[in-house]
Amino acid sequence: MNTMTEPIIAIDRVCHYFGKGNLRKQILFDITTRIDPGEVVIMTGPSGSGKTTLLTLIGALRSTQEGSMRVFGSELRQASEASLVALRRNIGYIFRPIICSSP
Ligand SMILES: Nc1ncnc2c1ncn2[C@@H]1O[C@H](COP(=O)(O)OP(=O)(O)OP(=O)(O)O)[C@@H](O)[C@H]1O
Ligand SMILES: [Mg+2]
Repeated sequence: MNTMTEPIIAIDRVCHYFGKGNLRKQILFDITTRIDPGEVVIMTGPSGSGKTTLLTLIGALRSTQEGSMRVFGSELRQASEASLVALRRNIGYIFRPIICSSP
């Protein structure tokens, strides 16, 4: 990995929580990583470990609560709704189909 290159995605100590009060639950714990231009990254982890939550934060589909999330050079934490919308226009998603099979 070339550390001189400006990363496409730079994530620094990102934490994320769902729920409020007694139901508040931490889902992401101090995530720090970077993705450089041209890198192909495969994220794996058990169901419920927070992969989709992290992807939605990177894609500006939800707000970063704690830590720093820089995508294409823009800080997403505390970014305005307008700048989140602008960023989303530059990101493509391919959703996997959910296949349910009964025994
Ligand atoms: N909108 C939400 N409100 C409350 N809890 C949520 C919400 N979305 C996800 N969670 C919880 O956050 C945790 C992480 O979920 P997430 O969907 O990010 O996991 P995942 O790694 O993508 O799982 P899978 O491999 O099944 O897709 C789970 O405990 C899930 O129940
Ligand atoms: Mg998922």
